[in-house]
Amino acid sequence: MSKRSRLHTVLCELLGCEYPIMLAGMGGTTRVTTPELVAAVSNAGGFGVLGAISRDPENIRQCVGQIRQLTDRPFGIDIAVPASLAESGPTWEATERRIASEYPRHVAFVQELIVKFGLPTVQPKPGLIFGSRAGDQVKAVLEERVPLLAVALGDPTWVVPLAHEVGTRVLGMAGSVPNALRQKQAGVDIIVAQGSEAGGHTGRISTFPLLPAVVDAVAPTPVVAAGGIADGRGLVAALALGAVGAWVGSAFLAAEESGVPPAHWEQIAGGTAEDFTLSRAYTGKPSRGYRNVVKEAWESSALGPLPMPLQSVLMKPLVDAAIEAGRWDLVLNPAGQVAGSIKERRPARQIFEQMVAEAEKVLDAHSHPLTGDQRH
Ligand SMILES: Cc1cc2nc3c(=O)[nH]c(=O)nc-3n(C[C@H](O)[C@H](O)[C@H](O)COP(=O)(O)O)c2cc1C
Repeated sequence: MSKRSRLHTVLCELLGCEYPIMLAGMGGTTRVTTPELVAAVSNAGGFGVLGAISRDPENIRQCVGQIRQLTDRPFGIDIAVPASLAESGPTWEATERRIASEYPRHVAFVQELIVKFGLPTVQPKPGLIFGSRAGDQVKAVLEERVPLLAVALGDPTWVVPLAHEVGTRVLGMAGSVPNALRQKQAGVDIIVAQGSEAGGHTGRISTFPLLPAVVDAVAPTPVVAAGGIADGRGLVAALALGAVGAWVGSAFLAAEESGVPPAHWEQIAGGTAEDFTLSRAYTGKPSRGYRNVVKEAWESSALGPLPMPLQSVLMKPLVDAAIEAGRWDLVLNPAGQVAGSIKERRPARQIFEQMVAEAEKVLDAHSHPLTGDQRH
């Protein structure tokens, strides 16, 4: 592959990578963006991002060390931040106590599900409430001089000046134009416009209508497209709609270096686009992933899921028990609609290089008159 491809955009200049393809940060329970996957994407000429939403600051530092042993290329870390440090909020234990006293019917419902699915009773391990250790997570990322801090959820206003002081760029995620304008106002360097077909937490607007609207609204801030991009055709389409690159999640679930649990990979490999549904069952915010009986149980219950971050604390006993019992079918398997077309596990470099080669082929085909066979 040539060093300076026609795919080179301003994103490559900003981030110091060869191709405008970012590995989307994928954190949460299954932590699929391993240090190995991040390094593999950066080594292939893209920009790897570690999903660290559920990683504590000590673990973030460890991962940064591991990534740096595997690559000397730039990479990023993705976390969630509250609107201000003062809002960093209650501990896991305090949240458990609050749920027990304010939502006894919800607690009883989860206990009934545990019994219904024949799961063992386990003492849930305290987790990391989204945003609750954001100050220390940000400190770890900035002290380690990680080149990019991606903010998945929340308000990065207080983070931007701290990051810029040490030369770290900030990327913010948006699922709507008002959201993107808030990110711009916060001063982020790059905005990801993420369509609702994406895996993980997502908004209500699909990538095709969302992307050009965000590009126009926040210009000249560079916009990266996310949601449904899994090959070179998708990458070129995103560039045609005004994006400077793609933030690719689901396609890299197939990478051999990804931490996707084998049972989740089986679901993805056997799934169709319609199997990847939205639900608030696990976190309280709409998140797209493989359909399962836990989501169905919440949908048919009169009790609505609790808001974020309460729902993930409420569900932890069930999730921990399911993991302990090896029942991965009961654990959220976040993946986007495009996961319905992903069938083959391969090294990340192969996935990456195929995406680049396809995109260059599409550009070649369209730089000639539209005659003859235009299939790619
Ligand atoms: C398994 C999985 C976990 C995810 N976890 C996070 C996360 O922790 N933080 C985040 O910003 N986005 C997360 N996302 C969303 C991705 O960053 C990205 O926006 C999305 O995957 C893009 O759409 P696509 O899946 O169609 O490629 C996750 C997505 C998946 C599939």
